[in-house]
Amino acid sequence: MIQAVIFDLDGVIVDTAHYHFVAWQRLARELGITFTEHDNERLKGVSRMRSLEIILEIGGVSLSEEKKEELATKKNTWFVEYIEAIKPEEVFPGVPQMLQQLRAQNYKVALASSSKNAETVIRLLQIGHLFDAIVDGTMITHTKPDPEIFLLAAKKINEAPANCVVFEDAEAGVEAALAAGMKCVGVGSPAQLGKANFIVAKTAEFDLGKLQGL
Ligand code: BG6
Ligand code: MG
Repeated sequence: MIQAVIFDLDGVIVDTAHYHFVAWQRLARELGITFTEHDNERLKGVSRMRSLEIILEIGGVSLSEEKKEELATKKNTWFVEYIEAIKPEEVFPGVPQMLQQLRAQNYKVALASSSKNAETVIRLLQIGHLFDAIVDGTMITHTKPDPEIFLLAAKKINEAPANCVVFEDAEAGVEAALAAGMKCVGVGSPAQLGKANFIVAKTAEFDLGKLQGL
């Protein structure tokens, strides 16, 4: 029986996925690498360093670890600048209500984001009180598609993985959720998220009455 719902952040609760893309594209341009929105799908859900490595692979560029650290930091400085201005109204429509409904129905609710900026985003959106646990990129060793982050979230809320449903917009995230032995609702397009148990275009479009039947 489903007892808990775990949400990804970027692209599921707020459109920060777009800011990540804009910052990476700015960096790619500086490096002379063509980086498209299609390429960006591969970056969703994975760590900052893995994202940079994918971009360098696309451009056929090889750099020292030191240089990679410098570039990843540069991208993050831009990203942090972009998100500084996030307002609570930018949370995706219907999402706070959905979290409240889940809590009212006694589901546990957790956040599991690969981002090391997750806490900042949650604070700016003023929705921290709606989660029983928050797991972010500072607490894990292996990035999605590894199941580590979802298993840690389940542990924090004291729930068996089989009783958890994950909401994810990234292909790597869907794979991570399934590898954790959880059910997964994909948020986005079937082309990327075909492996999910159910797909919606927007998070709040999901009918909570369908949770137990996933
Ligand atoms: C994930 C995003 O949530 O966090 C990725 O989907 C991003 O695109 C990753 O690279 C890491 O984020 P940050 O904020 O730690 O660089
Ligand atoms: Mg995401």
